[in-house]
Amino acid sequence: MYAVAPAPTNPLAGRSLLSVEELAAGELAWLVRLARYLKAAPVHEHRALLRGRTLALLFEKPSLRTRVSFEVAMQHLGGQTLFAAGGEFLIGTRESPEDAAQVLSRYVDAIVVRTHAHEPLIQFANAASVPVINGLSAYAHPCQALADVLTIEERFGALGGLTIAYLGDGRNNVAYSLAQACVMLGARVHVGAPNSHRPSEATLAALNALGEPAGGSARAFADPVRAVRGADVIYTDVWTSMGEERYRERNDAMLRPYAVTPELVGYAQPHAIFMHCLPAHRGEEVSPGVIDGAQSAVFDQAENRLHAQKALLVALLTDAKGMPQ
Ligand code: CP
Repeated sequence: MYAVAPAPTNPLAGRSLLSVEELAAGELAWLVRLARYLKAAPVHEHRALLRGRTLALLFEKPSLRTRVSFEVAMQHLGGQTLFAAGGEFLIGTRESPEDAAQVLSRYVDAIVVRTHAHEPLIQFANAASVPVINGLSAYAHPCQALADVLTIEERFGALGGLTIAYLGDGRNNVAYSLAQACVMLGARVHVGAPNSHRPSEATLAALNALGEPAGGSARAFADPVRAVRGADVIYTDVWTSMGEERYRERNDAMLRPYAVTPELVGYAQPHAIFMHCLPAHRGEEVSPGVIDGAQSAVFDQAENRLHAQKALLVALLTDAKGMPQ
């Protein structure tokens, strides 16, 4: 699918990825190309790439997709993983993030962390001498965003000029990372949310500045129909993120008008796809008829976590020689 050219210096080698804005637009586009190349290639073809390398997975919160897709990605690339659940390490509680990062850097080749607050993750990554990948923090979910733009590109060829409507809590980590990745690749992002759950003006201004070189933009709408009208992609997430359960009742009441129903999907383009990072709550943020219907892309999207993260591991841990540029 892609011409294989001799690799120039790989600009992502040895780096960490904590949030999408750390990537240049060209680096993001390259990761998507790499993911499409690796997805199309026979699995056995790249088993030597990470032979002898170990990826640690430190997860303070539950996970199905992120954990399993990273574990399978490492198997496909010839490496191995080591999983530790929250109580066994508790970054910043049992020992400082800096100490934990320096110790782990002596044992493993890269570290995926799923945690609560973003700040200790930054401290951890700054002290680590191996790449650190954010497997979800309160601030960002960059691995999800990589899979999301891969899925959109597969369906539409490119993101430039598309309208991506995100409905629900427009301030959460998934919405933020998705919006960053989409505007960087030239898409219009419409956030449909009540005032209590819309991105701040500062966030919208930052998204518009980030998207400006590629023609991407971001706007918020209180009216869900205006947000969705003419959209190519409709995206939603659970109304209450992990760790925010105390706000569940309030969120349910305020976000109900933003539920993705067949009626709301009717305002989008006839070719529009529905996306959700999963896990989903059918009958809450999305109707069963939408998530289980013909326009749903959610399981392709979930599969793409594997391919996007394979690309990320190759980019961070190898010189990417022989890979598409
Ligand atoms: N979408 C996502 O991050 O799924 P998990 O929480 O199961 O990893």
